[in-house]
Amino acid sequence: MNAETGKTALITGASSGIGQELAKLFAQDGYNLVLVARSDDTLDRLADVFKSNYGTQQITVIKKDLAEEDAAQDVYNQVKAKDITVNVLVNDAGVGLYGLFATDTDWEREKAMIHLNVLSLTQMTKLFLYDMLARNEGKILNLASLLSITPTPLMAVYAGTKAYVYNFTQSLVNELKETNVTITALLPNATDTDFFNKAGAENTKVTDEVQDPVMVAKDGYEALMAGKAKVVPGGLKNKSYEVLAYVAPQEALASLMHGKMSQKPQPEPENQDDKSSALTWGIGFGIAVLAGIALAVAYNNTSAVDKARYRYKAKSAGNALSDALSSVSDSLSSVLDSVVDVYQTARSKAEQLVPREEEVEEEVAA
Ligand SMILES: NC(=O)c1ccc[n+]([C@@H]2O[C@H](COP(=O)([O-])OP(=O)(O)OC[C@H]3O[C@@H](n4cnc5c(N)ncnc54)[C@H](OP(=O)(O)O)[C@@H]3O)[C@@H](O)[C@H]2O)c1
Repeated sequence: MNAETGKTALITGASSGIGQELAKLFAQDGYNLVLVARSDDTLDRLADVFKSNYGTQQITVIKKDLAEEDAAQDVYNQVKAKDITVNVLVNDAGVGLYGLFATDTDWEREKAMIHLNVLSLTQMTKLFLYDMLARNEGKILNLASLLSITPTPLMAVYAGTKAYVYNFTQSLVNELKETNVTITALLPNATDTDFFNKAGAENTKVTDEVQDPVMVAKDGYEALMAGKAKVVPGGLKNKSYEVLAYVAPQEALASLMHGKMSQKPQPEPENQDDKSSALTWGIGFGIAVLAGIALAVAYNNTSAVDKARYRYKAKSAGNALSDALSSVSDSLSSVLDSVVDVYQTARSKAEQLVPREEEVEEEVAA
């Protein structure tokens, strides 16, 4: 037993994010721990860190997929078998899923999410609350969300599960009023964890303003210890979102949230248009240069009158190319610089083949 509190906190979802930060706070305060998640290797590592950093005496790791049927019952049975009394229960494990409900999201993932976020949380609460009431002591923290109180297009089922968690918890607050057992709902705004990546929502606008999971866990921990009914971490800004959620029409909130959940504009593909048009120009110039050289060779081998005609045409074509070059040079500057070099080199080579004007006049006069 831990010398400082002799109490045990069971935390689901302790392997990452908010749950991990909460576990750390319990460890710092001298609680023994039961850590539950699927990643038992991560939980084992965490247990070693807590033992060496905070002198935590008893840490039990339970590897469990809480989206499975009766997973909560199995966790409860394992805890009972080890004769552990759970004084604090934290129902943190939860996942989200992003996409249009009718056409995008996968039903099997939704079913597992409902099982994890709703069924397991409810069953865990039922089993451990019963024992807490028998002892007339204990605390429960349930991870709700600010989305619990706002309709949320593109995460409709997730928001529905969190609305359940919040409503369920507030109902129990009332049922437990005359006891020494408290239950608290934690309603974070978007928080900087792996949650959005796992949900497939990593490129949504809402991820531009994420808050620190350390702060979220601390606010949740303090509210839990104080036996508060709910807490919205993050100061005035998030509290004002909460007030807005209570007073604004649902339709307006849904529109607002649709905007926040929509995808961020894709960054412009890096000068893709410029590249392809530069390539086109490059090929065009190559052909023009070769044609110029061929023209010059032909010019050299023809009569004086034809030479004068060729010379006139070559000059006009050169001018046209120069004009075209200067009109696009802004957008294609770097690529065109090298194309211009090639063009000028080729042109000077072609000019060496073409007789000067005096030579033409001499030939015409002869
Ligand atoms: N991040 C946010 O913006 C945000 C906002 C409001 C509320 N919340 C809520 O906060 C809670 C924690 O989320 P987070 O942000 O900390 O996300 P996270 O870093 O992804 O953590 C989720 C935790 O849940 C566990 N978990 C997931 N599926 C599980 C399963 N089938 N069985 C057992 N454990 C499972 C994960 O462990 P394994 O993968 O190892 O199983 C992990 O420890 C969730 O309930 C979430 O809904 C999050």
